[in-house]
Amino acid sequence: MLEPSADEIRDWGNSVTQFMIDYLGGLRDRPVYRHTSSREIRSGLDSKLPIKGIDFDSLLKIFRDTIVPFSRQNAHPRMFGYVQSPGTPIAGFADLLASTLNANLTIWRSAPAPVELERLTIDWIRQILGFNAEAGGLFVSGGSMANLAALAAARQTKEHSLGHLRMYASSATHFSITKAVALLGIGRENMQNVAVDEHFKMRMDDLVAKITADTEAGYVPFCVVANAGTVDTGAVDPLREIREVANRFELWMHVDGSYGAFAILARSARKSFAGMEQADSIALDPHKWLYLPVDVGCVIYRDPEIARATFAHEAEYTRMFGEEADEAFVCWDYGPELSRRFRALKVWMLLKGVGLDRLSAAIESNLACARHLESMVQASDDFEMAAPVELSIFCFRHVPAQFRNESPEAIDAFNERLLVASQRDGSSYLSNATLGGRFALRGCVLNYRTTLRDMEILLDDLRRVAKSLRNRA
Ligand SMILES: Cc1ncc(COP(=O)(O)O)c(C=O)c1O
Repeated sequence: MLEPSADEIRDWGNSVTQFMIDYLGGLRDRPVYRHTSSREIRSGLDSKLPIKGIDFDSLLKIFRDTIVPFSRQNAHPRMFGYVQSPGTPIAGFADLLASTLNANLTIWRSAPAPVELERLTIDWIRQILGFNAEAGGLFVSGGSMANLAALAAARQTKEHSLGHLRMYASSATHFSITKAVALLGIGRENMQNVAVDEHFKMRMDDLVAKITADTEAGYVPFCVVANAGTVDTGAVDPLREIREVANRFELWMHVDGSYGAFAILARSARKSFAGMEQADSIALDPHKWLYLPVDVGCVIYRDPEIARATFAHEAEYTRMFGEEADEAFVCWDYGPELSRRFRALKVWMLLKGVGLDRLSAAIESNLACARHLESMVQASDDFEMAAPVELSIFCFRHVPAQFRNESPEAIDAFNERLLVASQRDGSSYLSNATLGGRFALRGCVLNYRTTLRDMEILLDDLRRVAKSLRNRA
């Protein structure tokens, strides 16, 4: 098993490929989610410490019978919860190849071609976003790590001894930013929540007022974080205006584009992102809107030298001899990790194999699905929107006739029960958001398999589950 024969490898590969074919072929017929418990799952797993190994077929059988049915089916076309990509077969094969080669992308010398492929792919992403030619970055584990790395670089630009650093981000910002601020020692209390307008976008007047008041009080404003697609509603902050304010007060501008930035590939959404290319840093997640499987996030710095000043570390055991320029590229100079898997392979295989035209069309289709849902909700008399649709996230509530005269609290409580019941039902899967203090059902279309018809099925599912809830009450 540790070193299988060629025949064994072929047999394992054939079995795994057959599983993939059957699984993807039957995806639409599976429930997105099956309610279960820790006890039920554990009862299907042998918990004894394995002293002797078992054969590959038995391992695959446990995966097929116990792991797969009790997983949320993230590739299902009606998996609308959170910000979940479906993965794609080409990336599944890329991950297999990356693990087979087991390249470790620490420095160019350790993995010359893989590092070169990462730099090439990062440069393609830079071009997609419209950043300057000098911009560069790294693949990291996800958006959270990309945000952390970018904020570490931002912190480098201000003198800490002058006073407490202050950072600004809208109240709709993802919690990974708050976490980064805490981990970097800046302190959660030094992250200022800027108010949002009725479209859940950062309010410029509040941003300027907060920076001005902090400066007068002796704080050191150092960074403003703009959202290119908030996690709750998909709102894109006014990026150009934020850049102007950042320039005026000499702040670093970081964009959290983990969810939304790749929607710049869709013609109908492109204008929302004007100014994004002027950011000092951006966090992206190819494992969201490039449909790739986890984990692959990406951080890009407008001036990578600032990242180098933040992360470079010269230890004797890592010293390089006799190498120059490109071949002396040190990955750990640009981010917090040392050992890094070959994430670039799946990004490269996707971009090169699928091509931007087809990716743009898929993202455009996701946007159309969210807009279709919004139109259906607006035309209905039993649903209401809770936020405008800007990208592919939609927030709404079910308000059947009997609830129309009920209090907002009663409608929220009913929708909360509906969310849980519909997740257990398994035909469609939503998550939730709290908007203006009220509960909302929330969905995000992030799957090239999702069709307009799936959006109709979603509303039908909710009506059906709501009816059964009312009948039970
Ligand atoms: C806007 C935004 N930022 C950051 C993140 C964190 O990304 P990750 O889960 O890849 O760490 C998310 C995750 O959903 C997100 O939506």
